[in-house]
Amino acid sequence: MNRLDTLSSHLTANVNSIVPCAAVQRGYTRAEVAKHKTEKDCWVIIDKMVLDVTTFLPDHPGGKKAIMLFAGKDATEEFDMLHKREVIQKYTPNSIIGTLSD
Ligand code: HEM
Repeated sequence: MNRLDTLSSHLTANVNSIVPCAAVQRGYTRAEVAKHKTEKDCWVIIDKMVLDVTTFLPDHPGGKKAIMLFAGKDATEEFDMLHKREVIQKYTPNSIIGTLSD
């Protein structure tokens, strides 16, 4: 086997070892997000992202209530008036569960 063949088989092996993982995001409709509107199950939309903020609620520096006003809804406008988008990655990166599909 020459060097090119060896390299080629390494690359093939690596490509074949890529498997779907938990980080693969799925799409949700606005109607689906709207069902998650309680303190025990709270989703919000920010831009095209769908966030499950249930476990973040007690840790939110702006308080639980501020987020609950937008439970199940699109909070983009109000969110952007109060925060930089980076706070999501900084405080609660795992809350991003998917993207909006409609
Ligand atoms: C989902 C992810 C969210 C994260 C990571 C987050 C994070 C934060 C942080 C770090 C602060 C302190 C101020 C700052 O450093 O910017 C804050 C304040 C605040 N947040 Fe959020 N927040 C989130 C969602 C929301 C939503 C959906 C609302 C409702 C529109 C909201 C309303 C507020 C309010 C009213 C304050 C207080 C602002 C003030 O005292 O002037 N937040 N948030």
